[in-house]
Amino acid sequence: MIKIAPSILAADFCRLGADVDEVQAAGADYLHFDVMDGIFVPNISVGLPVLKSLRRATDMFLDVHLMIDRPQRYAKAFCDAGADLVNVHVESDTEENILHALAAVKKCGRKVGVTLKPRTEAEAILPFIEYCDLVLVMTVEPGFGGQRFMMDQLPKINRIRGLIERYAPRCELEVDGGVDVDTAPLCVKAGANVLVAGSAVFGKTDRAAAIRAIREKTK
Ligand code: DX5
Ligand code: ZN
Repeated sequence: MIKIAPSILAADFCRLGADVDEVQAAGADYLHFDVMDGIFVPNISVGLPVLKSLRRATDMFLDVHLMIDRPQRYAKAFCDAGADLVNVHVESDTEENILHALAAVKKCGRKVGVTLKPRTEAEAILPFIEYCDLVLVMTVEPGFGGQRFMMDQLPKINRIRGLIERYAPRCELEVDGGVDVDTAPLCVKAGANVLVAGSAVFGKTDRAAAIRAIREKTK
């Protein structure tokens, strides 16, 4: 079954706990937590203290997306703060240091993923795939919620599905950016099994209905 991962970037941070409870009750599978440092991406979001609070407030699976430069520096800290899975961008450091970041997460007993920006080719996952529990494909330029889904990423999603099947069949394939009722089915058709949705879930008044609608369309 397809997993839905609402992104808290579109939630109301003044009532984050209640927002999270609402999507959990509506059947969301993961909670997507976007971390931005103002360097790797031109925006700043939330970080360790918010993750720590969230960890105390919910038992949901916390899928942390690090959009930060040299994530190796903070991989363990995000695990300690309560991440269940930590995604690092392949573009955020050297191959060697990315491997160190993945190893640090594994050492904490958490799951790990690598993430690709839209202009990064599918094969960039190859040095890391054997260690990964998940590959995250960005379908917008990372940094902001509410952007338009990039259709030209669909062939890449499909190509990554092929690489996963070949090298790491248990690895999940997640997509992030502009995913809504219309684009979700295209992602699933291309091979994705985890759908991040910010505006399309937290941006709606009736979050339960929003999740149901995405689920319906991806059955
Ligand atoms: C963008 C973030 C996304 C964002 C998605 O850099 O990584 O997770 O919250 O938001 P929507 O679903 O609104 O495109
Ligand atoms: Zn994200």
